[in-house]
Amino acid sequence: MKKTLIKNGTLVSPEKLYQADILISSQKIEKIAANIPSAGTEIIDAKGKYIFPGFIDAHTHMGIPIRGTTSADDFETGSIAALHGGVTTIIDFTVQDKGESLMSSLKRRKAQADKKTSVDYALHCNITDFQESHIAEIPKVMQEGVISFKAFTAYREAGMQLNDRQILELLWQVKLAGGTVMFHAENGDMVDFLTTKYVKYNKTTPPYHALSRPAEAEIEAVTRILTLNKFIQCPIYFVHLTTYESVQIASMARQKKLPVYLETCPQYLIFDESIYSTADGHYYIAAPAFRRKEDKEFLWYALQDNLIDTIGTDHCPFNKAQKDAGQREFHKTPNGLSGVETLFSILYNEGVKKERLSLQKLVSLISEEPARLFGLFPKKGILLEKSDADLVIFNPVGKGKITAKELHSNADWTPYEGMETEGQIESVMLRGNWLLKNGNQIDTNFKKGRFVPAFVD
Ligand code: URP
Ligand code: ZN
Ligand code: ZN
Repeated sequence: MKKTLIKNGTLVSPEKLYQADILISSQKIEKIAANIPSAGTEIIDAKGKYIFPGFIDAHTHMGIPIRGTTSADDFETGSIAALHGGVTTIIDFTVQDKGESLMSSLKRRKAQADKKTSVDYALHCNITDFQESHIAEIPKVMQEGVISFKAFTAYREAGMQLNDRQILELLWQVKLAGGTVMFHAENGDMVDFLTTKYVKYNKTTPPYHALSRPAEAEIEAVTRILTLNKFIQCPIYFVHLTTYESVQIASMARQKKLPVYLETCPQYLIFDESIYSTADGHYYIAAPAFRRKEDKEFLWYALQDNLIDTIGTDHCPFNKAQKDAGQREFHKTPNGLSGVETLFSILYNEGVKKERLSLQKLVSLISEEPARLFGLFPKKGILLEKSDADLVIFNPVGKGKITAKELHSNADWTPYEGMETEGQIESVMLRGNWLLKNGNQIDTNFKKGRFVPAFVD
C-alpha cells in the first residue's frame, strides 16, 4: 500500500494544538514530526486545516426494534452517515431476545454489522433478560472483546427493564470480570405510571411526552444506581444524561473518586421541552425527553468543566412516516433521533464557535475519552505513532447549512434542519483508506469496517 503524507496541518489533541506532518503506512500512523521527507508518497497539503483523530460515537442503535418498527438506519446506511460526519468508529449495542444467551446475541449482532459497515465498530452488550445462566457468560463476552454491559431501568413493556436485585447482581459480576456497566437511567415504573394516567385522560399530545418522563425519573434512577453501587464500586457509565441534578449528583460520586462516567448527547444541548409544542413536536419524541432551558445551558458548562466525559449521539432515527404512524400520540410514537453525521458539526458550531467548548475539549469528548473508557485506546481515539490511521481533515473556512437532503442517513429528516454551519469535514481516513477525500466519498461500496475488540487495561 502506498504511503500517505499529510503535511502542514494543525493536529488537535486534548492537551494542545500543534503543527506537524503525519506519515501513514500499512493502516497505521508511522510517524508524526515536523518536515517529514515526501519521497514516494501520496502528499496531502493540510495547511490551514485541523486534523483530528477519527471520531468515536459510543452510542448508536443501527436497525433496532422500537414500538413495532425498526430504526431507519442499519449498519450499512448508518455507517455511511457516520463516515461523512468524521465518525470512524461507532460503538453499537447487542440486542438480546427474551431467553437468549449473551453469546448468541453478540454473534447475531456481529452478523448484522460485518460486511455491511463502512466504519469500524465495537459493541456494548445489552442485558435485558438477566437470568442465572447469563452470569457465567459475562467473562466469556469480555474475552470476545466486549467489555461494557448495558442495563435499563425503564422499558418494562418492551421486556428490557431490570429490577434492583438484578442490577446489584450485574454490578457485582461485571466488577469481578473487570468490565463496566452502562445505564439507561430513568425510573421506568414512574414513567409507566404517568403514561397510563395521561393516556387514561386522553392527554397524549407530544408535550405530555415530557411530562410522562420527567426529570425526576432520571434523578431517581441515577441516585438509586449510585446507591446500589456504593458497596460494589463497579465502573459505571450513565448514557444520555439530561438534567442539572443528575449530573451534579453523579459528579459528587466522582469527587469521592468512585468510577462513575457520564455521557450526554448533542440533542440535549440544543433542544428543550418547548420543541414538543411545535407543529413537528412528535418527531422529537426521544427518551429521555427534552428538559428545561436551564438544563441545556448547564450541560454545556458541565462539558467544559470536566463533569461529563463523552458525547454520544444515541443515533436511532425514524422516518417521518414512522413517527406519523403514532398519530401524534406520544406513547405510540417510536422514540429516537438521528445524530451520527451531525455530531461534530453541532459541537463545533454550537460549542467551539460560541466559546462554550475548546477544540481540545471537543476532541477529548468525541475521540479520546470514548476510546479510553471502552477499551479501544490507543489503537483508536488519538493521533499517535502506531495507532490506527483514522483521521479527519477539517477546513474551518466556508459556510453551509444542515439539511436532510444532503445528509446520508436513511432518515428523511434531521432535527437540525436549516442550522447554519461554518467549516467542512473535507477528508476522512479509516486505517489508511480514504473514505472521504475533498468532500467526495471514495468508494460508495466500501463496507470494510471491522469489529474492534475492546480490552481492559
Ligand atoms: O429515544 C431513544 N433514545 N431511543 C433509543 C433507545 C434509547 O433509549 O437509547
Ligand atoms: Zn436509552
Ligand atoms: Zn440509546
